[in-house]
Amino acid sequence: MQSLLNKKIVLGISGGIAAYKAPELARQLMQEGASVQVVMTEAAQQFVTPVTMQALTGNPVYLSQWDSSIPNNMAHIELSRSADAILIAPTSADLMAKLSLGLADDLLTTLCLARDCPLLLTPAMNKQMWEHTATQRSAQRLASDGVTLLGPASGFQACGEVGMGRMLEPAEITEQLIAFFQKKSLTGKKVLITAGPTFEAIDPVRGITNHSSGKMGFAIARAAVEAGAQVHLIAGPCDLDTPLLATGQITRTNVVSAKEMHAAALNATDCDIFFAVAAVADWGIAKPAKEKLKRQGNQAPNLEFVANPDILLDVAKAAKTKGGKSYPYCVGFAAESNDLEKHADEKRKRKGIPMIVGNIGPDTFGSDLNQLIVIDASGNRKIAKAEKLQLARQLIQLVAKKI
Ligand code: C5P
Repeated sequence: MQSLLNKKIVLGISGGIAAYKAPELARQLMQEGASVQVVMTEAAQQFVTPVTMQALTGNPVYLSQWDSSIPNNMAHIELSRSADAILIAPTSADLMAKLSLGLADDLLTTLCLARDCPLLLTPAMNKQMWEHTATQRSAQRLASDGVTLLGPASGFQACGEVGMGRMLEPAEITEQLIAFFQKKSLTGKKVLITAGPTFEAIDPVRGITNHSSGKMGFAIARAAVEAGAQVHLIAGPCDLDTPLLATGQITRTNVVSAKEMHAAALNATDCDIFFAVAAVADWGIAKPAKEKLKRQGNQAPNLEFVANPDILLDVAKAAKTKGGKSYPYCVGFAAESNDLEKHADEKRKRKGIPMIVGNIGPDTFGSDLNQLIVIDASGNRKIAKAEKLQLARQLIQLVAKKI
């Protein structure tokens, strides 16, 4: 799935060492389906060549408003008129200062002043420059002018220092630009999500678990952040990166057992929506051994199981009523081997939740594809087979309407 299909992005590059990441960024934007038109400042050309950017994007690179070889000498107006967004990566402290004052003394700044599309900046500079009151003043002015600042991040800097001012990585910038274009139906809302499997220890090296890659839960977390929510993701053992971490809109708690997941979730019920996507182990081992159990010939050990708490049921019980509605709005998930709709709806009623989502498949756990059936009191609705992120976006819009 390409999340920037048909989007026209003007990619501005200003003079800073992070410009070496601009070619990779252009490539990633194009892989997501965007067409990329590059505009470079004079200083940017000290770090990356226009030929590189031209070869990667397949478009001529604009460098100056005085270039008489451009057929339309009102290029600054034209470029911004046809664009869906101007993204400047990297954005130097100097460029931030100019843009915050509305200066227009080269093609890129003129383009920004003449634009009628959103402007997104990814600051990149030495930490002293970032922390300087002048730069902070520029950042505040730009934000109050409706300009979106992505980053900067903290970390190692080209100058050898460590601190705030690093440009976000191209993958993070691409993820955030995609998020920028999504419908903001959950702004100001808090979303709690459980995802992945749980693991119940038998001894220090063995345990029982459920099949679950965590992909669906993580896709819902990403879609909720994209929609503007503040997300708390409680993840069982799974090897997935936290989506959109750089936005500051997501926190992650890693847990292992169902009991730990239960405690973490019940500590976080002050939210608007709860998605219980985790495949929670129904039973744990009553007394996990402190040391590895030794094999006793062909004799199997006698393991005593205890039922785990039902996280979804307990969060639903803890729900509070606000304005005649119950919060959090609880959404369960159901994977069944037979009679999916019947069993899922029974589960919905038994757990006292307004909505349950049935996984129709494909059967292979860990797949990037899925097909869903959404069941609530008003009936059933299928969401056709697609990538999990696409399904998650549709589900988020459906649930946003309910609250
Ligand atoms: O009861 P069952 O496991 O079939 O129901 C599935 C739904 O309940 C899922 O949303 C799952 O995350 C949630 N669940 C839970 N705690 C459990 C078992 C299931 O939150 N102990």
